[in-house]
Formats: sequence, structure tokens, C-alpha cells
Amino acid sequence: MENDTIISLQHVRKEFDGTVVVEDFNLDIKRGEFVTILGPSGCGKTTTLRMIAGFELPSKGTILLNGEDISLLPPYKRPVNTVFQHYALFPHLDVYDNVAFGLKLKKVPVQVKQKDGSFKTKMKHIPAKEIDQRVSKALKVVDLEDMEDRDVSTLSGGQQQRVAIARAIVNEPQVLLLDEPLSALDHKMRKDMQLELKEMHKKLGITFLYVTHDQEEALTMSDTIVIMNDGVIQQAGSPEDIYNEPVNAFVADFIGESNIYNGTMTKKLTARFIGANWDVVDDFPVNEKVDIVVRPEDVIIKAPGKGNVDGVIASKIFQGVHYEYVVIVKKNEVLCRDTKDREVGSTVSLSIDKENIQVMKKDFTVNQYTDAWINKENQLVISDDVYDCDILSLIPGSVFDEDGRIYDPKTKKHYDFNDADVIAEVDLDKVELSDDLSIGNAKGTILSSVWIGDHYRYLVRTEEEEDYVVSSPYSWNENDIVSISIKKEDIRIRLKGSADQYAQD
Ligand SMILES: Nc1ncnc2c1ncn2[C@@H]1O[C@H](COP(=O)(O)OP(=O)(O)O)[C@@H](O)[C@H]1O
Ligand SMILES: [Mg+2]
Repeated sequence: MENDTIISLQHVRKEFDGTVVVEDFNLDIKRGEFVTILGPSGCGKTTTLRMIAGFELPSKGTILLNGEDISLLPPYKRPVNTVFQHYALFPHLDVYDNVAFGLKLKKVPVQVKQKDGSFKTKMKHIPAKEIDQRVSKALKVVDLEDMEDRDVSTLSGGQQQRVAIARAIVNEPQVLLLDEPLSALDHKMRKDMQLELKEMHKKLGITFLYVTHDQEEALTMSDTIVIMNDGVIQQAGSPEDIYNEPVNAFVADFIGESNIYNGTMTKKLTARFIGANWDVVDDFPVNEKVDIVVRPEDVIIKAPGKGNVDGVIASKIFQGVHYEYVVIVKKNEVLCRDTKDREVGSTVSLSIDKENIQVMKKDFTVNQYTDAWINKENQLVISDDVYDCDILSLIPGSVFDEDGRIYDPKTKKHYDFNDADVIAEVDLDKVELSDDLSIGNAKGTILSSVWIGDHYRYLVRTEEEEDYVVSSPYSWNENDIVSISIKKEDIRIRLKGSADQYAQD
């Protein structure tokens, strides 16, 4: 580990009652850096912060601070302070006493001279003069030096948040952890505080680890953004890197607005999407399925026939500096920005510079279940959920005989697949979701959704923690409970190992 690394999380995992909420988290934070963990609600941000602060212990992995393992140190022994989402100030104390509160209770080791001339270490309270200096310094950083005597209940939300920050930095931590500290403020106040926090970070020169679900906040403030989804880091990098080079569709959708499409590499450095071929700069094998991301500001609107593909303007919204248009190109929506006023319903042509077409390997092309098995009714079982399947497909050419047994005329053998281990595959668009929970083979919760040009892609998780990735034109919200159905003919199964072990005669 380089010695400019202050915090290092290595293979950190956290489970609550067997449910994994943070998985194999690896991150090095540089001294003095402003790092933001960004992700949707429930993805494990607070849990990660609480493990660094010492309020939770990792189930696995280690947390190093200045190269030393602090995974098991209690919170008060870590040179780390937290500003919480819900900052609890003492309403009956003034600003000064709120900030000084912790320091007044704190005891520090001091060398005390004994009668015999030797020194002994004793725990003593911090002298009043030193408390005074430290509180003044902290209030200066948060720009509240004239408000020492104000009752905190008379302060605005933004001022109260500053008191909470002063209370944390008065301890002179090496790392300040901030858990969505601005979420209680209104939009204008939040924007002001973002800039001020950045200033405070500069003035203090310490490391800030900030947590938010607000991408704009992350882009404004951070040196490094760590994007998390479902307990797992998706991408870490500078705001520019993450905006310009998202590694997958989730990141592209989460950071900024984007057009995301299914594409196919048709030739070297050529991708086909929205019904046209486009020159691209990312090299992928021919025929590979890819995700395509294009930022709205990178779509150039031209006169009909002058661009690469024609479309019709379906809507427009004036946004102050520019118009935002939705152009329909062969059933795909293309979001574009342009300063020129154009008519809804008119035909336009679109072009995109090849540098601005982001091509990404598809993270998922098929649902594959490698721990599936067959029950005695010849049905497929995926994590306790039962599906009808074409059992005869396990032995091509086999039939059911008069007794209902599986018979292969070629080998003249009968087979019994009760308990057989199989691998099952289902295409993303063959998993059907419904609000009607009385139907279907399984039930699950929508964990995330991404709009991919002409359909949504959902991640649905069942109670047994089995995941289904689903392409669907219909809209659901995160946390919706849905039923999952798959038609018999849409499930592909194959045996793990040889068929001989299931032959009977
Ligand atoms: N003490 C706990 N016991 C059980 N589950 C928890 C506990 N704390 C958090 N969780 C669960 O862990 C997941 C991640 O939570 P959290 O870290 O608070 O997410 P975020 O801060 O990103 O919104 C959530 O599903 C949450 O319900
Ligand atoms: Mg949280």
C-alpha cells in the first residue's frame, strides 16, 4: 500500500442475518482526498461508512488506517468523525456549547510529574483555554464565528448543519465521514452548502468521505466518485472519467442523462443501433452484443438526410439555454439537446461523433441458473421455485413411453431424472413480470431498473435470493413486488454431467 493512502478497505463484506449488504468492497482513499460514495437508496453506503467509523464490524475483510488494521477498534479510538444524515443537536444549548460538548467530556493522556520526580500518564480533561481555541477555530471554518451565543433552535437548517460539522471537526479527525449531510436542506441551501463544504475541505486539508444518492452533488464536489449498486462497487474514478467512460449501463443511467441502446458490432469499429451503422472508437469482436451509451448533448441535429439516421421530433421542452427534444428513430427514443427552436412532428437527421459513442460489453445476455434440478414431477426447480420444462430436451430424440417413462429409442434405455442436477437458461425477454401475484412461478422484488432506448431492464430478486434479469416494455418502480412467469418452451435445460447416471436399464 502506498503511504499516501489513508484508508484502505480490503475485501470488506457485511451481512445482516445472512443477507449480504456489502460485498467484496475494495477501495484505497488518498490522504486529503474528497471521495464520494454514490448509489441508490439501500445499496449499502451507510453500512460502509459505519464500518469505517467502527459502529459496525465487517463480517469479512479488513479496514486499514495509515496501514494499521483498525477493523476491530472501537469508534472512539479511531481518528475519524461522522456527520450524520439526521444531526442531533442539543436544542437547549447554544452554538458554542453544542460544539464544545464532546471536548468537555473527553479525557486525554497527560504526563504528570510525581513527588519523586518521575512522570506518570494520567487521563485529564482538556483545559478550558484549549477547548475555547479549538471551538473558535472550528466555528471559523464553518463560518459561524459570530454566532457562538445563539440558541441552536433559532438557526436555519443550513446553519444547524454547520454546527453539526463544527462539532465533528473540533475533534481534529484525520478523516471526516459525511452521511447525506445535506438531504434535509432545500435545493438552494443544498447548492450553497455543497460549495461551502468544498471550501471547508480545502481549508482543513483532511480527508472527506462523503455519501450521497444525488449524482449532481457527487459530480460537483468530489475528487473521486465510487458508484455502488446492490452492495457492490460498479466503478470508481474521477467525475469526468465516470461521466465520459461509464463501465456499464447502470453507471451510465445513474450519472447524468443518457441514451442507452442495445447494439451489435457489425464490422471492425462499426456498431449497429437504432437501425443504423455507426463508426465507433471502441474495438469489440464482430457480432458481439454491446450496450451503447450516448449523452443527449452529443447528439447533433441536422436537416433531413444530412445525418446518419432520420427521425421525427416527438416532443420538445425549453430548458433556458437549450431545447430538449425527443426524436423517434425506428421506435427508439433519442434524447437530444439543441439551441435551435424546431417544430414537433418535423423530420430531422441525427449524427454523433464517433468519440461520443460509448460502447460497452453487455454485462448480461442470458439468465443462467447452474444450481437448478429436476423434481419427481419432471419439473425444473430454481431455488425452491418450480417451472414446467421440456424434460425430453435433456435427451434429444427421447419420448414418453406408455407408462409415462422417458425412453430413448436410439440407446433403448429408460431414464429417470428425479433429482438430476441441471443448468437452466432463460433469455432476458422471456421472463414475464406481472402485478398479479396470484399467478406465476415465483415472486420477487424489483431491485433496479434501467431504461434501454425502447425497453426497461430490471433486476428482480426472489425471497430465496435468486436474481432474474428481465427486459420488458412495461414500467415498474424499485421495490415493487411482482410475479415471475416463464413459459415451458422458453426454458433451456441441460444436464450437469453425463446422462448415463440416470439410465435405468
Ligand atoms: N442493522 C441492520 N440490520 C439489518 N439490515 C440492515 C441493517 N442496516 C442496514 N441494513 C440493510 O442493509 C441494506 C443497506 O443499507 P444502508 O447501508 O443503510 O444503505 P444506504 O445507506 O445505501 O441507503 C438495506 O437493505 C438495509 O435494510
Ligand atoms: Mg444511508
